[in-house]
Amino acid sequence: MTRLEAIEADITTLAVDVIVNAANSSLMGGGGVDGAIHRAGGPDIRDECIAIVERHGPLPTGRAVITTAGRMPAGHVVHTVGPVWGTVDEHEAVDLLASCYRSSLDLARDALAASIAFPNISTGVYHFPKRLAAEVAIQAVSDWVGDDPGTVESVTFVCFDRDNLVFYRDLLRI
Ligand code: APR
Repeated sequence: MTRLEAIEADITTLAVDVIVNAANSSLMGGGGVDGAIHRAGGPDIRDECIAIVERHGPLPTGRAVITTAGRMPAGHVVHTVGPVWGTVDEHEAVDLLASCYRSSLDLARDALAASIAFPNISTGVYHFPKRLAAEVAIQAVSDWVGDDPGTVESVTFVCFDRDNLVFYRDLLRI
């Protein structure tokens, strides 16, 4: 059975098979966790992102792509684009956020990953309410691992602030 856990950490330091980036459609980096990942991983990540955008265009919200993790200890980075709260109705925002988690897990499984770590997608600059985002994330991941987790043995929700950690620990009952 796949293990779900929540920790407080900087996702760039984790030696897991896949870390997920809360990117934007340009894949060119930004602030928050996106900036931290590009800074820690170095220019190889950006080079791969440029090639992906040249080939396929900007990454739509809810979708994901995979690159090297550059200089970070993780094996790969999955870049996904969460919804910006307030730009679509609540149902659509929830569907798009759930799709980020599912699309990322699909790529992790295709890469034969055993461990994947997610940041709290959309809960920073994109202003998705934190508790609702945690509920959506845990539900989407639980449904996905219940279907066919493939090689994925552990899913870590990486919280960068106390509010998120409290919500995740409460919802995961840990
Ligand atoms: N490790 C783990 N989590 C982090 C880190 C880090 N090093 N840095 C920030 N976070 C957390 C934030 O505290 C927040 O809970 O990641 C969560 C997501 O916040 P943002 O990074 O602002 O991402 P998001 O809300 O999805 O907005 C995406 O921000 O910088 C831009 O390019 C990015 O345009 C995109 C937008």
